[in-house]
Amino acid sequence: MLAVSEAATPDFSRAAVVSPRWVTWREHTDIAAYDERFDRLSVAGHHVHGEAEFIAGYAPRTVLDAGCGTGRIAIELARRGVDVVGVDLDADMIDAARRKAPHMDWLVDDLARMQLAHRFDLIAMPGNVMIFCRPDDRRLIVHNLAQHLEPSGLLVAGFSLERDGYTLAQWDTHCTASGLTLVDRFATWDRDPYVDNGAYHVSVYRALVQPVAQESSVR
Ligand SMILES: C[S@@+](CC[C@H](N)C(=O)[O-])C[C@H]1O[C@@H](n2cnc3c(N)ncnc32)[C@H](O)[C@@H]1O
Repeated sequence: MLAVSEAATPDFSRAAVVSPRWVTWREHTDIAAYDERFDRLSVAGHHVHGEAEFIAGYAPRTVLDAGCGTGRIAIELARRGVDVVGVDLDADMIDAARRKAPHMDWLVDDLARMQLAHRFDLIAMPGNVMIFCRPDDRRLIVHNLAQHLEPSGLLVAGFSLERDGYTLAQWDTHCTASGLTLVDRFATWDRDPYVDNGAYHVSVYRALVQPVAQESSVR
């Protein structure tokens, strides 16, 4: 019993390396309860796999789930036969993912600085990862993810567009400076059309055949 309660105590120091905003999220969210909410919705017949369905629609063989959290999307993609690696900087989130799917590849690493040996057909960033990361790291994250794409690979991200937050123009600038080209944009994971000044976007960027080599070229 003691071991369980110790393990259940949130370790915010591990969230702190992600961003202050992530610490706040963790302070107000119990990871197990967060996962259970999705499980309950699924059991009640709600459609909880919109992101995975959207991503699988591009028929990738390999996916990096970047900022995978507790793995809800990576696990569903793997169930659909996709070869998935999940990476997250918060070790508690990765622990939860690994408990649910010990057979899968889970990494604790920083999207801005990781250097993986693999390149991926598609890198997915659902679930507001770009607004929970450290603002100073956003440019680096986009650039580093572009470096982890196969030639013509896809970067798929969805996040809220908040007043005074990370803007769509900033995101687009970071993507194009990293050698990516916009191929699709929607307002939802159900492919509703994006309208200007929307509150949420899902954007699909494609890598150039030759990745941009030097980080210093991104400003
Ligand atoms: C709101 S959660 C989304 C989790 C998952 N994508 C989902 O949709 O269920 C945002 C995640 O981004 C991760 N994250 C933020 N900055 C990161 C970074 N620099 N490197 C790796 N993960 C990061 C956080 O640890 C957190 O798990």
